[in-house]
Amino acid sequence: MAPLLPIRARLSPLAFQLRARNVRTIISSSASPATEPEPDSLDKPQSTRRKPLSHEQKKFLDKALRVNQAGELAATLIYTSQTPPITKAHPHLRPLMKHMYDQEAGHFKYFNSILAKHRIRPTVLYPVWSVAATVLGWGTGVMGREAAMACTEAVETEIGEHYNGQVRELLAWVKEIESKGEVLGEELQDLVKQIRRIRDEELEHLDHAVENDAKEANPYELLTGVIRVGCRGAIWVSEKV
Ligand SMILES: [Fe+2]
Ligand SMILES: [Fe+2]
Repeated sequence: MAPLLPIRARLSPLAFQLRARNVRTIISSSASPATEPEPDSLDKPQSTRRKPLSHEQKKFLDKALRVNQAGELAATLIYTSQTPPITKAHPHLRPLMKHMYDQEAGHFKYFNSILAKHRIRPTVLYPVWSVAATVLGWGTGVMGREAAMACTEAVETEIGEHYNGQVRELLAWVKEIESKGEVLGEELQDLVKQIRRIRDEELEHLDHAVENDAKEANPYELLTGVIRVGCRGAIWVSEKV
């Protein structure tokens, strides 16, 4: 049975590429090539010189967090509808499906609380994504284990890239704030840490999918291609409405 715990040391080539791409893009020449930068102010206590967010930064966060919430809603619904057919045919996958669902439910709960706290509106297409994710989960679950895993691989590839983009942007803010001798506010410190943690869990799901024969799905290229285009479209639309 596939291991259920984070397997940072054994990333699949695809998950590794995603991390590597992120590292290449954001590290400075003096940073360790193996990790993202760890800016000092991520762990510093709140300061009186805390810098308020600019209008542009607030707009970026509104869009990003709205998309994150919609994506995590979709992820929980995909696993909810995939789990019955998959675990019926492959009972040994029950713990893995539950593990991935539980992590998605945790991500969804986190972004729900952030949206409520900062009065950010959810996407108006929330009901559309709910139906689409349920249909996608059910359809790939019925197609079989490989198709369900290919669905996870495709979704997590796009979502991993999406979260990597946010981490890059937030770390650039941190760098700018530090360069002015100011310190990041506690909420923003926590947001960076949470998005990194969630990103890592998504890449762990991607690993599980590849280990469980996602690439054996038939037709693999068509299925993952359509799902990835669908994810990119959903992200693009949810940023706007
Ligand atoms: Fe998630
Ligand atoms: Fe995930």
